[in-house]
Amino acid sequence: MASIGLTEHPDIQGLLFRGYTDHAHAGYGLFRIRGRRAFQAWLTGLLDREQVTTAESSSRKEVADSHLNIAFTASGLQKLLDAGSIADSFEPAFIEGMVQEHRSRLLGDVEANDPKAWRWGRRQDFDGLLMGFAHSRQAADDLLAAHLTAANGADRGITVFGHLDGAGTESFGFADGISQPIVEGTKLYNDRLHTRPREVALHGVPVGEVLLGYPDGSGRLPRSPATSAASDPRGVLPPHWEWPERRDLGRNGSFLVVRQLAQDKDGFWRLMEAMAAEGAGESAIGLAEKMVGRRKDGGALAPATGAGPDHNNLFDFDDDRQGQHCPLGSHIRRSNPRATGSDTPDGSLNVTKRHRMIRRGRGYADDEQGEVGLQFLCFNASITRQFEFVQGSWCNNPFFHGLQREVDPIIGTVRPAGRGLASIDRFTIPRAGSYRRLLAGLPSFVTVKGGGYFFMPAIAALRCLAAAP
Ligand code: HEM
Repeated sequence: MASIGLTEHPDIQGLLFRGYTDHAHAGYGLFRIRGRRAFQAWLTGLLDREQVTTAESSSRKEVADSHLNIAFTASGLQKLLDAGSIADSFEPAFIEGMVQEHRSRLLGDVEANDPKAWRWGRRQDFDGLLMGFAHSRQAADDLLAAHLTAANGADRGITVFGHLDGAGTESFGFADGISQPIVEGTKLYNDRLHTRPREVALHGVPVGEVLLGYPDGSGRLPRSPATSAASDPRGVLPPHWEWPERRDLGRNGSFLVVRQLAQDKDGFWRLMEAMAAEGAGESAIGLAEKMVGRRKDGGALAPATGAGPDHNNLFDFDDDRQGQHCPLGSHIRRSNPRATGSDTPDGSLNVTKRHRMIRRGRGYADDEQGEVGLQFLCFNASITRQFEFVQGSWCNNPFFHGLQREVDPIIGTVRPAGRGLASIDRFTIPRAGSYRRLLAGLPSFVTVKGGGYFFMPAIAALRCLAAAP
């Protein structure tokens, strides 16, 4: 696996391996395919002119003015391909979409997060997402406007915007984008294997955890979408490994989860100040850090192997099993419990690594709504096993790590008491000895405003979509 040079692979869309951090602004444009032929002609032109940024082109030294990447929903793929042939090869989460009653319960999309109140995604009535990255918001908007036109067979729907603030912080002011899986076969993995083996042991994941077509943590190939041989007359796709008579539409592609998350920044800090004023020694920042599970500047709360940015991800919680440094219910501990999911640290790490994902989120500020937040984007090989499991079984689990009546204090859905059930709105800060501080009656600080599940195909798969008869 060492020599495949994944990070420079011309078949993989660039966003998987790069956050395009030198392009501060992003536009995420939802679209519907109105004219199949015109859309296919446009996509062919885009590919011929090499306008879809790949891992290879984004690795080149010269900086492009902008980057474009594209992903599709199940309905988009069904419009372009032989619908019957793909339906049974995708996992149900992707086919059904993010908004289903049972899924909403699992994800915590109830109460204030109920899709009925979302700004977009409620009806999942879009076929794809065109993502433009540029140096200004206007340029990102113009880029999408130039492509998503009736002449190109596309109806432009809602566009949401995201930006990077230069300091690498999210809207509560915490350093973000620190802990990512390190994917086998990438340059980073190969370098770190020799220079920082501990980091690779903690964060190294097989390629198949984030990219289809390669073995995942089970040693097997992840389920990959298939299409009929008839929909690929030019034979651009490899045969499917599971159904040899079909073609592998998934290889070098990945599933993309998008959630627009509004953050009540003022409410968050007001409550931290108020709780700090109640005493017990913590400052407002100290309390917020306990909830996130990291210092505001990104430093580790859990004992790490050293100080400074090189060490801020070198911890596995094994020496903080009671959560006296990093609370058991904090955001980073719930979203990646590392070595403490079960009794044996190594076994636990191998299990938790099966739920990791590559995060590519950006902040947003919506002046019209007077709102700030996070455009959360993540890539994974299985929406169910990775994103949905983390959100539902870890972050929104009231009994996570033996806790009671709490959810993730950053992204969990607080629930009021009712129907004979107690409220779920607490957060425990364990301390040395038997002392702990219990914060009760917390509100949710994050509200979902929209979301959808997409598939970001490889370049070869885009060629197939563009030419399917
Ligand atoms: C507005 C909402 C959110 C905020 C403010 C937020 C904030 C943060 C911060 C400050 C960190 C620590 C820095 C880092 O390691 O990058 C972090 C880590 C992380 N977050 Fe979030 N996050 C949000 C939503 C989500 C969602 C929806 C998920 C997935 C369900 C998620 C999954 C993760 C993961 C996996 C990590 C890394 C954990 C680790 O490996 O240590 N976050 N987040």
